[in-house]
Amino acid sequence: MFQRFTFFLTIILIPCSLLFSLSSALKEGETCIVNKNCDPGLHCESCLASDNFRPRCSRMQPINPTTKVKGLPYNKYSWLTTHNSFARLGAKSGTGSMILAPSNQQDSITSQLINGVRGFMLDLYDFQNDIWLCHSYGGNCFNYTAFQPAVNILKEFQVYLDKNKDVVVTLIIEDYVKSPNGLTKVFDASGLRNFMFPVTRMPKNGEDWPTLDDMISQNQRLLVFTSSPHKEASEGIAFLWRYMVENQYGSGGMKPGVCTNRPESAAIGDKSRSLVMVNYFPDTADVIGSCKQNSAPLLETIMKCQEASGRWPNFIAVDFYKRSDGGGAPKAVDVANGHSVCGCEDISACKENMPSGTCEKQEEPKPESKFMMIAKLTAEATKGYGHPSTKPTLLGLSVFVVTFVSLLSNF
Ligand SMILES: *[C@@H]1O[C@H](CO)[C@@H](O)[C@H](O)[C@H]1NC(C)=O
Repeated sequence: MFQRFTFFLTIILIPCSLLFSLSSALKEGETCIVNKNCDPGLHCESCLASDNFRPRCSRMQPINPTTKVKGLPYNKYSWLTTHNSFARLGAKSGTGSMILAPSNQQDSITSQLINGVRGFMLDLYDFQNDIWLCHSYGGNCFNYTAFQPAVNILKEFQVYLDKNKDVVVTLIIEDYVKSPNGLTKVFDASGLRNFMFPVTRMPKNGEDWPTLDDMISQNQRLLVFTSSPHKEASEGIAFLWRYMVENQYGSGGMKPGVCTNRPESAAIGDKSRSLVMVNYFPDTADVIGSCKQNSAPLLETIMKCQEASGRWPNFIAVDFYKRSDGGGAPKAVDVANGHSVCGCEDISACKENMPSGTCEKQEEPKPESKFMMIAKLTAEATKGYGHPSTKPTLLGLSVFVVTFVSLLSNF
């Protein structure tokens, strides 16, 4: 009986799979099995923390706002930002030691850049006669909390900026470096010096920044901020809180309905700083919960901070930026850009070169029929299994997919 049933299903599904194999890339929200099922810019994941058991194609890239509206000052745009960008899940320490410190992201700096991350939070320490990316324990860096020498990842930025001439990147350094001219040396060694936006051009009293086009045409495409108040005078590296206001980071900043400044920052509403950052990540990185945190609660905090600061955030900083129950942090960036760049609910609704507030109607995603879903997935699963001798595998795969999807559809 069961054999007959699978035979029947296969007979139905094979033509379907042929039908769909030409156009089977899956859109946002559609059911998937592996990342490569999904359209570019999406990956396949479920979010158990939000009771989303069905793996679906989810966003991991924001829309580049300059594709919609060019020519605005740097501080009118919003950028996806990674907290502890260097602390990659599963990384081994450059010392050869195991890492016993929390991880905050899933992919490399280069991969983050490719996905459109433009703000990076980096913790720098003196370590082993060099400067390392590290987590501290009692203010010190140890072999088992040290990720790698800073020059390695700074070189990743150098390579990317060199190849992509219209990209502007912002580094936000939690700075524990005490060695004289330590930052200067490591930026020189990485070849990033030539890209740095000079501190003398940064607006000191809440004025607008130069336009992105200006920064690009002058090749001043790397903004570096340090948490150390002394290095602006000694090394010409901008003191973060002279230019930016920030909400409380960590679990304290995740309380619903609250947006207050972190102690180091001026009040969120202080307009003498023209940049705004919203932090939204817990004290202890949470790979399981991050998909939920990066979704509706993140957007709520952004709205709250918009109210408190009177501006949409320039930097939206999260852990595990790819994780969400749908649109996540990339979607939050699109919402912020939509409002501040063109007066629409989402940057995707902005019409190019039109007055602010001229918005496209947003399309509601159509619910997918179960039959279409099964057919598409089968098409994906059976891709490349056309040879006669692989028929049993084809059959096996189809049965697997059908079982899998029917199980899922019970959730
Ligand atoms: C830390 O790693 C270095 C290699 O980078 C090694 O020489 C040193 O012995 C290690 N220290 C400890 C305490 O394990």
